[in-house]
Amino acid sequence: MNLTKFELTVPQRIENYVEDIARLENELYLYFQPKFEVENNFSRQIVSFQANKTRAFYRWFKYKEAFSASLIESLILNNDISGKILDPFAGIGTTLFAACSLGLDADGIELLPIGQEIIKDRLSIEDLKSEDLNILKNWVKTKKWLKGEKRKPLNELRITKCAYPPETLNGIELYLGALEYENERVSAILFLVLLCILESISYTRKDGQYLRWDYRSGRRQGTKIFDKGNILDFDYAISQKLDEIISDLASDNKESDLFQYNGPKGKINLSNGSCLEELPSRPDGHYDAIITSPPYCNRYDYTRTYALELALLGNDEQAMLNLRQSMISCTVENRTKDLLRINEHWERPIAYCDEVKLLRKITEFLNSQKEKGNLNNNGIPRMVSGYFYEMSCVISECYRILKPNGFMIMVNDNVRYAGIGIPVDTILSAIAEKIGFAVDKIYILPQEKGNSSQQMGEHGRTPLRKCIYMWRKIIER
Ligand SMILES: C[S@@+](CC[C@H](N)C(=O)[O-])C[C@H]1O[C@@H](n2cnc3c(N)ncnc32)[C@H](O)[C@@H]1O
Repeated sequence: MNLTKFELTVPQRIENYVEDIARLENELYLYFQPKFEVENNFSRQIVSFQANKTRAFYRWFKYKEAFSASLIESLILNNDISGKILDPFAGIGTTLFAACSLGLDADGIELLPIGQEIIKDRLSIEDLKSEDLNILKNWVKTKKWLKGEKRKPLNELRITKCAYPPETLNGIELYLGALEYENERVSAILFLVLLCILESISYTRKDGQYLRWDYRSGRRQGTKIFDKGNILDFDYAISQKLDEIISDLASDNKESDLFQYNGPKGKINLSNGSCLEELPSRPDGHYDAIITSPPYCNRYDYTRTYALELALLGNDEQAMLNLRQSMISCTVENRTKDLLRINEHWERPIAYCDEVKLLRKITEFLNSQKEKGNLNNNGIPRMVSGYFYEMSCVISECYRILKPNGFMIMVNDNVRYAGIGIPVDTILSAIAEKIGFAVDKIYILPQEKGNSSQQMGEHGRTPLRKCIYMWRKIIER
């Protein structure tokens, strides 16, 4: 008897939540409907790293989470953005380099050492001399690392053990030993080359939430056997990447192939660390525009997917844990951050989050699902609410440091958990409005993204919006 009652009440409660969430979601959608616009020029290719694959310089390091330089160029030119811009989630610096090549000064903030290193190395190109290029060409020609006698051991983490075939590991350690004999400029480029090829010479493939392991590694992962296909030979991969970089460095057609801008370049300034810590110290009204893409609320763990690169950069287990916890909450392992300890003035943005009824209902629903044991990970409710609280604080800082009329432009994806779509676009836009922004437009990408295969199996296929939000600072508070 009791069991029947239980079976009857649980679905009813869930249905109530689902109904309430659908109603609130629809209300918020209708409120922003005049701002939504499907923009065919913002293809998935342009908004993702894909369009960088053929762009000199941008193609060196495949940062899957990056957007393309062409997107930034068109956003800057089509919205008449000039002056100084900021990207608080700089990644490998797409916004910074694209803006700088159009003559704008650009500041960036990036937490992960991999993005920091790529930006630093790209900036150091300015100091390269023609004899340095000759040294690099000679490395390709003679495969200099093969002649090395000194070997430098590769730093490993628990999650990177057995990542390379033995002959590849041997090649890496000889290469690391040999590059130390070169001048600082050349050894920086050689190190960058190695960073750029790690995935292709390893048994791993980056897969959003974690690294997938090829069966040849001997590491077991689940029950399915994963074959990543061709694993590049070390000498071949290094030579290829070095050739590509040398060719870009030697080319006259430097950064941009779309827009011919011949004026002076802007200056780039990168701060290493968390934007939650960095933004509060920036002065009011300092930036003309902010163009950014934060981590999505999608459980992607950059510290795991970029573990090979972070290990090569010398990070130890503790550093990895610290980085994971400092990221904007986007993994189920993120603990709640004490935002008021970081900045006592964040009471308002925190309260604004609580005022969004839809968000409150979603959080309640996820917590109820957690209590019932219906979630595939109990960290999901904490991640989702942490994401919005932290993003609200970031948005309020961005508002403060923007000049009046300045644009904040953000690329972000909607997500889905436990069968419930979370419209990140309308929720963040509602918060942005409370902070003082005017929502000018929310551009929707033409092809909508499906769900993860797991979600599709359980809940059917409903497309999730991927959008570019255009917010403008209108009122000084
Ligand atoms: C979607 S990616 C941005 C990629 C960038 N648009 C590009 O083209 O390279 C988000 C970035 O935010 C960074 N990030 C995450 N939490 C951060 C934080 N608290 N402060 C600064 N950067 C953070 C991640 O390391 C990641 O590089």
